[in-house]
Amino acid sequence: MEKKWWQTAVGYEIYCKSFCDSDGDGIGDLRGVISKLPMLKDLGVTCIWFAPLYVSPQADNGYDVADYEAINPDYGTMEDFKELLDLAHSMGIRVIMDMVLNHSSDEHRWFQESRKSKDNPYRDYYIWRPAKADGSEPNNWGSYFREGNGSAWQWDEVAGEYYLHQYGIKMPDLNWECQALREEIYGMLNRWLDFGIDGFRLDVITRLKKMPGFPDSTKKPEPKLDRNGFVVDRDMCTNVEGIHQIIRELNRRVFGREDCFTMGEGAGVNPTNAPDYILPERQELDSIYHFQLASRKGPRLTAEQFRTVQKSWAKVGEMGGTYIQYLSNHDSQRQVSQHGSDKAYRTRSAQLLGTLMHTTPGIPFIYQGEEIGMVNVRFDSIDDYNCCYTVGPYYAMLDNGFDPATALADVAQTSRDNARTPYQWNAQKNAGFTDGKPWLKVNPRYEEINLEADLAAEDSVFRYYQKLTALRREHPAIVEGNISFLLEEDPNVICYTRVCEKETLLIVANLSEEEVAFKLPESVKGGFSCLLRNVKEGIGLTGENELLAPWECAVFVAE
Ligand code: NOJ
Repeated sequence: MEKKWWQTAVGYEIYCKSFCDSDGDGIGDLRGVISKLPMLKDLGVTCIWFAPLYVSPQADNGYDVADYEAINPDYGTMEDFKELLDLAHSMGIRVIMDMVLNHSSDEHRWFQESRKSKDNPYRDYYIWRPAKADGSEPNNWGSYFREGNGSAWQWDEVAGEYYLHQYGIKMPDLNWECQALREEIYGMLNRWLDFGIDGFRLDVITRLKKMPGFPDSTKKPEPKLDRNGFVVDRDMCTNVEGIHQIIRELNRRVFGREDCFTMGEGAGVNPTNAPDYILPERQELDSIYHFQLASRKGPRLTAEQFRTVQKSWAKVGEMGGTYIQYLSNHDSQRQVSQHGSDKAYRTRSAQLLGTLMHTTPGIPFIYQGEEIGMVNVRFDSIDDYNCCYTVGPYYAMLDNGFDPATALADVAQTSRDNARTPYQWNAQKNAGFTDGKPWLKVNPRYEEINLEADLAAEDSVFRYYQKLTALRREHPAIVEGNISFLLEEDPNVICYTRVCEKETLLIVANLSEEEVAFKLPESVKGGFSCLLRNVKEGIGLTGENELLAPWECAVFVAE
């Protein structure tokens, strides 16, 4: 079967707000992106995913959309976006847009209309419920963002009812039971495709369908998430029966269009339920990304976890499903800080993590800054933080008697701001991101970690990532090979082959800060030559006992 364009793609997520500011207002913008397209081309990127670019009051940095069909003026104009799109296409780079279909901003015109009266034509676009007899919330569901009293329901004076918001108070959930809303969304999505974009990243797409009847959750509140008895129960709105009918209709009306690529954010998706969303015959989504490796709060990745997760997803791949390989995005920590070593072995461990993502089956997505090994940040004051998963929980902890230093230490480690500090272009003022005052402080390590430095160095994360993307272009086994793991009991070493009709690749990686012994199993015969390695005099696959240096990795091809 002929391959779809996205199967060979190298993805790159741009968080525009923090990428490159061209006009000195401290906020990244589209003209900034335009000026950096050649850098993305050099890196080997073939598909950009833009985090939301639309008009938005920025309660959640654009995931609160106030107008799905207009560009946020801080980022530029529709003409800028068209210019960017055409230029990207001329350079062989596709562009997909983030689509937030679960909720809008409360400042969206639909919501403003909806709250006006029960017979307003937009009333049903959102989920309204009366108060209980005592005036309290319709049920005990808690919101993910922990704003206000912690409930997922917000009383609206104008409407005289509560509305549901799984996320922030300013992010009311859209009502997918309403056909008029669906039609409105199909029109909007089709207009974007007509405009020339190549597809969509679909925000929390598994959460569009809510549990019918809105029953109380019977789960116990998680100790730290609980507030006033409200329970964050993901099952009430995730993978709820009926979700597939919604996505199939989206596919019939929009996603099924030729060459349109969809990538679903797979909250609550695992290898067991993923096939229903992504097998081609289901006619729902083209791909999905899961959270089994890249969990913001998860511990450091282990070799065993990596093998288990990759093996279980490989089965989905064998069935014909496509999934995304990534370790970080705008919602996570910086991968080299969370899973690698951001001090002594920063470059080498960043190269190793990249190797794992670019040599396993699926579509690799790089998150901006990952390709230069950007690291987590630690600000001294909560006032320097922006992310609602950081600020809300911080004040909730203070309310619960924690002292400020403990609360800050707790929320800083997993803050999404770790990934959102401005891109580090060079060692000059504000890391070359802006001439003005950046909307979020620059990471203090910018003098050491920046693109200019990486380009000047022979051995850098950027130079290595270029070689990874070249491997994908030049070696068919990277895209189509089966994966089999060797040395499956090893606590530190990850070793696997990728085999297709034309070639066999073998990948070795030491996921630890220690030197470890390595011996190729006797079952593996024949000579290998090295395609890429991150340690100069590294292992040679001699079959003898060898030593792998800390964070050493290498990619070999069978001769
Ligand atoms: C997932 C997005 O990636 C995240 O940034 C956002 O806060 C939530 N969905 C809500 O839209």
